[in-house]
Amino acid sequence: MNAPLPVTEPVLLNHRDDFPILARPVRGQRLSYLDNGATTQKPRAVIEAEARFYEQSNANIHRGVHWLSQHATDLYDQARSTVRAFLNAARDEEIVFTRGTTESINLVAHSWGMDNLKAGDEILLTGLEHHSNIVPWQLVAQRTGAVIRVVPVLDNGELDQDAYRRLLNEKTRLVGVGHVSNALGTINPVAEMTRLAHQFGAKVLVDGAQSVPHGVVDVQAIDCDFYAFSAHKLYGPTGMGALYVRHAILDGMSPWMGGGDMIMTVSFEGSQYAPVPQRFEAGTPNIAGAVAMAAAIDYLTAIGMERIAEHEALLLDYATDALQSLPGVRIVGTAERKAGIVSFLVEGIHPHDLGTILDMDGVAIRAGHHCAMPLMTRFGIPGTARASFALYNDYADIDALAGSLRKAQKLFGVG
Ligand code: ALA
Repeated sequence: MNAPLPVTEPVLLNHRDDFPILARPVRGQRLSYLDNGATTQKPRAVIEAEARFYEQSNANIHRGVHWLSQHATDLYDQARSTVRAFLNAARDEEIVFTRGTTESINLVAHSWGMDNLKAGDEILLTGLEHHSNIVPWQLVAQRTGAVIRVVPVLDNGELDQDAYRRLLNEKTRLVGVGHVSNALGTINPVAEMTRLAHQFGAKVLVDGAQSVPHGVVDVQAIDCDFYAFSAHKLYGPTGMGALYVRHAILDGMSPWMGGGDMIMTVSFEGSQYAPVPQRFEAGTPNIAGAVAMAAAIDYLTAIGMERIAEHEALLLDYATDALQSLPGVRIVGTAERKAGIVSFLVEGIHPHDLGTILDMDGVAIRAGHHCAMPLMTRFGIPGTARASFALYNDYADIDALAGSLRKAQKLFGVG
């Protein structure tokens, strides 16, 4: 008889040493950085890629006839291919570089939205959305007369899918949904939601800011029309991000910002625009940012997004158990499918006070409404404390969080 196959238990990754900032003590303590939903730290590979660009490759792109300009253009173009492969988009031209998720969504709202929405059309958002997937649509709704509808959130932090089906109708022109809720960690079934939306001819925008760092994303499998994300939550630089748009849609979209590099010809009588994606990249872009974002993606791909997802799932389980075992602690958001984000309340301690006390122990969390005020209103709370995980976190970080929470409870005489 054959020997049974060995069962491999998932184990935590061990990449803390790749991140120089994690070696610095904060307030004299080992830094437990658990504010990754706000921004992640950067590995040496990313920091060095950005420095290397300025040391060896810096020139403006698409303009120069000289070698360095062509070299910088090549690096910029390669970065686009790297993003395309990372999202499994079909074509490089479907990737527009932006300043981040917020700019990506504004681009869609102002370009596609202003061209395609009219009075009475419906924009269907969800109660889990970040302000950046609400306010741009409000601005466009005010100008076009389109109406915003909202998919309600269940008590466990999942979207009410029955309500979603009921809300979809022939007037729905766009569905805007976060892939992962930044406030609660809920993973939304975006592929199924897209399939349903397409039955009514609606376009689907997925806010991927909190999903791309946590696992494999495949825009063709999701079949969405727009997908937005930021580099800085993906171990890359701030002020950088991307927008995926299905080519047939992008090609028909009007420019949003005008300027250099987005035109073919300009005269005072009128201008002809460059093909996509250049049409949407007016002015000198963040070239070094694109190169560093690609370095972040290369770094993550070498580790493996599946491994990172597995690692964060272990941390989420460990943190959920640790928090649930503390008296007076309530987790907000208990969806069946969650990414590495845990929001919680501690009875008798305001989240902001908690954040300040934890900081004294070198534990960095976020406290507040997480730019999701409608969601906080839905739960009748002003905000939560939130720990969000990254590939460099370990059990020691969560032990530090739990230990510091206990100290805070003693200090406040609660729990
Ligand atoms: N949207 C970021 C967060 O959730 C800033 O913290």
